[in-house]
Formats: sequence, C-alpha cells, structure tokens
Amino acid sequence: EDNRIARISSAIRVIPNFPKPGILFQDITTLLLDPKAFKDTIDLFVERYKDKEISVVAGIEARGFIFGPPIALAIGAKFVPMRKPKKLPGEVISEEYSLEYGTDKIEMHVGAVESGERALIIDDLIATGGTLSAAIRLLERVGVKVVECACVIELPELEGRKRLGDKPLFVLVEAADQI
Ligand code: PRP
Ligand code: MG
Repeated sequence: EDNRIARISSAIRVIPNFPKPGILFQDITTLLLDPKAFKDTIDLFVERYKDKEISVVAGIEARGFIFGPPIALAIGAKFVPMRKPKKLPGEVISEEYSLEYGTDKIEMHVGAVESGERALIIDDLIATGGTLSAAIRLLERVGVKVVECACVIELPELEGRKRLGDKPLFVLVEAADQI
C-alpha cells in the first residue's frame, strides 16, 4: 500500500512557477507515462469503491476524464462527464462556483443521472474545493447521493476539504502548493 502510494507520488512531476510565479504545479501527465503507477492509482480507487454500490462515476473536466472512466468500467458504473460551460450539446443543468477572481461553471446533461443514484466524483486534484463543491451541488440538486469525492492529489494548505462540508473526501497524495 505505502509502496504504491510512494510510486504514485514520485511519478507526479512538480513544476515550479507554473502557471504563475510562486505556484508549484502538480503535473499528472508524468503519472500517465508510468503504466505501473497509473495502474496503482486506478486500482487503489477501484479497491475502495468496488463494493460501495456506486452507479455513477462523475468525472470533472479535464483531468477527471482521465481517471474517472477506468474506475467506472472496473466497478461497473456509468461515467458522466461534468464539463466546462457550453461544451455539452444536450440540455444541461449548471452550477457556478467562485474563483480567486470571478466565477466559473460546470455543466451536466439532463437525464444523465436519475434521482436516487449513488455517485462517486473524481478529479485529479483538490485545491480550494470550489470545483468539487459545485459538482456535489449539481448532483444533489437532481436527487443523487454523493457517496464520496476522490482525487489523486490534495493541496491541504488551501483547506479545500472544508468547503465540502461533511462530504467525505479521499485522496492518495498530499502536496505543497507553494514554493
Ligand atoms: C484544476 C484541477 C481541478 C481544479 C481544482 O482544474 O484539475 O479540477 O483546478 O481547483 P479547486 O479545488 O480550487 O476548484 P482547472 O480548473 O485548472 O481545469 P482543467 O482540469 O480543465 O485543466
Ligand atoms: Mg481540473
């Protein structure tokens, strides 16, 4: 277990001063280049969620689209993309969240999920928690039970976890966000 976490952690590349001076960017593309570490990542989530009666894995654009689908396939759940505004072609419901400056939105297709379903929300990383909190609200608005949110990486100094209220958050790796 610790071996797998250590392999995952060392496969994540940290790039200082991206996208802004002082920021330490957590780059998961190098994790994807390491098939063993990528498989360990998926396996750890699958082991945790396979017996939790999850019917939907909701993945957040863009990097939640990389980790979500293999987990969904392995646990026999459907995959639902939660996208940036104006990307989905059908009727959508959307939810706004605040950023450092201004707001952003995520959207989901109407009819992708049904009231009473049990969801797992997947993203690569939690920073301020704004994105995940909007995803939770979106699913709860349509009567879905959010069982847990899961990310590969948490930036604990930003305390995004607090923004999720009592919703459980599971992460594999904790990292610093500033130099
Ligand atoms: C990053 C990251 C998470 C989000 C976390 O995505 O992939 O989705 O920020 O930040 P938060 O916890 O403060 O909301 P970003 O919005 O940069 O877009 P991308 O995944 O499409 O690159
Ligand atoms: Mg993202």
